[in-house]
Amino acid sequence: KKVVLAYSGGLDTSIILKWLQVTYGCEVVTFTADLGQGEELEPARRNAERAGIKEIYIDDLREEFVGDFVYPMMRANALYEGVYLLGTSIARPLISKRLIEIAHETGADAIAHGATGKGNDQVRFELAAYALDPDIKIIAPWREWDFKSRTDLIEFAEKHQIQVPKDKRGEAPFSVDANLLHSSSEGKVLEDPNEEPPAYVFQRTIAPEEAPDTPTYIEIGFEKGDAVTLDGEKLSPATMLARLNDLGRDNGIGRVDLVENRFVGMKSRGIYETPGGTILTVAHRAMESLTLDREAMHLKDQLMPRYSELVYYGFWFAPEREMLQALIDKSQEHVEGTVRLKLYKGSAIVVGRKSDKSLYSDELVTFEDDRGAYDQKDAEGFIRLNALRLRTLAMRRRKG
Ligand code: ARG
Ligand code: SIN
Repeated sequence: KKVVLAYSGGLDTSIILKWLQVTYGCEVVTFTADLGQGEELEPARRNAERAGIKEIYIDDLREEFVGDFVYPMMRANALYEGVYLLGTSIARPLISKRLIEIAHETGADAIAHGATGKGNDQVRFELAAYALDPDIKIIAPWREWDFKSRTDLIEFAEKHQIQVPKDKRGEAPFSVDANLLHSSSEGKVLEDPNEEPPAYVFQRTIAPEEAPDTPTYIEIGFEKGDAVTLDGEKLSPATMLARLNDLGRDNGIGRVDLVENRFVGMKSRGIYETPGGTILTVAHRAMESLTLDREAMHLKDQLMPRYSELVYYGFWFAPEREMLQALIDKSQEHVEGTVRLKLYKGSAIVVGRKSDKSLYSDELVTFEDDRGAYDQKDAEGFIRLNALRLRTLAMRRRKG
């Protein structure tokens, strides 16, 4: 009888809102999140009011998003299929969490979202929702309604006095999802994976070839694996990411053009821009290079693809993700210090790193006199024992 809708205020979710009202005859609560997508939220309120909505939720979730979702994920150096920093994937569980909270607050028994039946997002929204409320009902209009084309949708909108912006009359040029971590563009002009994306696709980075000829130097300070200062200034997670996004934008950093495997089975091509997240990942790895034990680092690196897959598939609120998170968080105990980077024409290059918890020993590694810190003769027995199996195998081979 009552449903909470994840509502952007845009054309598609306005159509969904009306469709819920006419199809289910139910009361709709709208929920609009500020995740740093860079859009005005007031139009969402106005459009919801115009649609007769009485309970309108508009929440600024930027700090929670970066502090409780993006930062934990960054401790893992998460990358899906080697390149994707998971900017959309990591936002979905938070949206579901709020949808469920609002459902409980307002006495709603259902939630609704605007993800299509072909994608990952429906899976992420719904897995997270069921994990938090096993009895919740979920309505996914894109999987239910009979509209066959954009034209059908527009016709429905006009019949119900929903304003259709001029540029939305024709086919949408491509599908965008944005938040503080990234923006993604998929579909339409991008569907041929062999075609270079047109320049207008990019929204939060300038082209590397247009970036300044002089490099920008920055210093990021870490505590327990999290970025906490920028050039000595203490910043909250969301402010940090926003600042790094600006620096990344101006230096053309963080563009990715990829073909990825969706959880539902097909491959899709996407253009992602993750300026601040790219800088953070490079810096975090450099901080770890100084402060993590070798085997701790290698173990964590082996688990990273699994962790990333869980985030991508939508298993954020699952025991296996939480178990891996506990391991990753434990590994970050001593990941503190500062990393200096040079931002220049599309790359973030590490130029220095420093830590009170450093395991780096110039005494051990030096080519000069180490005054007895390391006895080179020890290496002989080390190699001999490690070679024992290999020599045994070689002898058998020789015997034939
Ligand atoms: N393919 C990316 C992912 O699955 C981005 C999805 C973007 N979502 C959207 N509704 N446009 O994480
Ligand atoms: C969608 O919006 O459903 C397509 C993108 C995705 O979820 O993978």
